[in-house]
Amino acid sequence: MAKAIGVDIGGTGIKAGVVDLEHGTLESDRIRIPTPKGAKPADVLETVKQVLSTLGVQDSRLPLGVAFPAIVKHGRTLSAANIAKDWIDFEAERFFEDGLGRQITFVNDADAAGVAESRHGAARDARGLTILATLGTGIGSAFLYNGVLVPNTELGHLDFRGESIEKWAAYSAMERDQLDWAEWSARLQDFFSHVEFLFSPDLFVVGGGVSKHPEKFLPLLDLKTPIVAAVHRNSSGIIGAASLAAD
Ligand code: BGC
Repeated sequence: MAKAIGVDIGGTGIKAGVVDLEHGTLESDRIRIPTPKGAKPADVLETVKQVLSTLGVQDSRLPLGVAFPAIVKHGRTLSAANIAKDWIDFEAERFFEDGLGRQITFVNDADAAGVAESRHGAARDARGLTILATLGTGIGSAFLYNGVLVPNTELGHLDFRGESIEKWAAYSAMERDQLDWAEWSARLQDFFSHVEFLFSPDLFVVGGGVSKHPEKFLPLLDLKTPIVAAVHRNSSGIIGAASLAAD
């Protein structure tokens, strides 16, 4: 069976697992260690090492993919919205390869989630343009056209009243501004209506932890495009990173 390792670096936790690439399922336990405070590169590397040693996979021939919440172009991180500024213009892939002593593939977290949903989840066999949006601390996005990823779309940074729209509409805004589901959904409506007008997608997929409760907010949205919850939720970053590493 084809296998690969996926690591998903998030604002609060660093997660990893071994992925069965044919079925897009976790083949191991899902390991999670809290993200070190400040999330500086050297500390994140140490935690990734711990996660991998807890996972206990020694075979360095298995492809290893790492998903990260920033623009990632040719292995270089170019932005830092909810993480330490040290990651801006940083050779992240090379840094992790040197630190781990093996080859890796470094990708954006929402792109990884999009690939997982396209190959093994809610957008499987979807034709035309699928847009996945992850709603968490920020908003991440992935564009898949007939299953092919167009990376680094960063829709969470569309401008809304002079700020990134993720500040207004991410799931974190619900807690911060003490919104109920209807109030938060009205903000999501601003986001999805604008994206729908700009790109005329064929399918929206919503990921992130909140996709566990789709019944609370998806029915409140008024869109022409079908909108569904992601299937893999907490594991989509792991599954997608592993899949991309094996390509
Ligand atoms: C970052 C994206 C990331 C998203 C979700 C945004 O703030 O700019 O790169 O995909 O958060 O983590």
